[in-house]
Amino acid sequence: MESPRVDAELLLAHVLAVPRARLLTLDDVPVDAATRFEELLAQRTDRVPLQHLTGRAAFRHLELAVGPGVFVPRPETELLVEWVLERLTGLDGPVVVDLGSGSGAIALSIAHEHPGARVTAVERDPGAIAWTRHNALSRIGAGDTPVGVVEGDMTDPALLGELDGRVDVVVSNPPYVPDGARVPREVAEHDPPLALWGGPDGLDVVRGMLGVAARLLRPGGWLGIEHADQQGTALPALVRAHGGYTDVEDHPDLAGRPRFTTARLG
Ligand SMILES: C[S@@+](CC[C@H](N)C(=O)[O-])C[C@H]1O[C@@H](n2cnc3c(N)ncnc32)[C@H](O)[C@@H]1O
Repeated sequence: MESPRVDAELLLAHVLAVPRARLLTLDDVPVDAATRFEELLAQRTDRVPLQHLTGRAAFRHLELAVGPGVFVPRPETELLVEWVLERLTGLDGPVVVDLGSGSGAIALSIAHEHPGARVTAVERDPGAIAWTRHNALSRIGAGDTPVGVVEGDMTDPALLGELDGRVDVVVSNPPYVPDGARVPREVAEHDPPLALWGGPDGLDVVRGMLGVAARLLRPGGWLGIEHADQQGTALPALVRAHGGYTDVEDHPDLAGRPRFTTARLG
């Protein structure tokens, strides 16, 4: 396991319904909690993702509900959101589309951190969109600007026709793992296949989406797409070859690995 101590502490804190820091001053664990803790440890050892066991995933300032059927949001995607928020600075009621929204991590963070943004989350997988909707509804309860959730395919040429030429930022963390790539058991057995696999080079869905994004964006609007470590040259090349986009740039994550490509509609 990558971080067994942290995972164990978070599971114990979850069972006891206390913050992790509270464990430092804990004198005793009731027997029923200890039994439940052991069950969860066994599942974690069997590579069930920590977030499926606690039912929550932290992402930027939010805690999202997650579980079987939805992709667990990853910390590296927080940087893509940061980039989107920078593009929105000073805009009143900007229009944003999140393609392949899953738990809603990107869409809901943008609505939370740029109040008044008009955000639409698009998701194709019927299993995943139940989580998108659930999390979107909880954020309205928490006082955030509502996010529209639309069941649709990000490669569909007719997607969101009503937003043609009106979108300030299109953002996506699409499925981008090349078919047949080796991934950890947590990922292979628990993230939904539609969230992962992107064809022989991992870029099939992106290829289908570039035209849709170009149609949705207003002139000067921005596109940001997350990608795999090994796609830091191929994805920018694909965007350049598509035509219509300018300022094509790739960005590293905090570990210095190529992580997302951005471009502007010319
Ligand atoms: C890597 S996950 C990202 C989820 C979320 N945006 C995040 O960053 O945590 C990709 C998501 O895209 C969805 N998806 C895959 N192909 C799609 C398509 N053609 N149209 C719309 N959504 C799609 C998957 O179901 C999955 O929820």
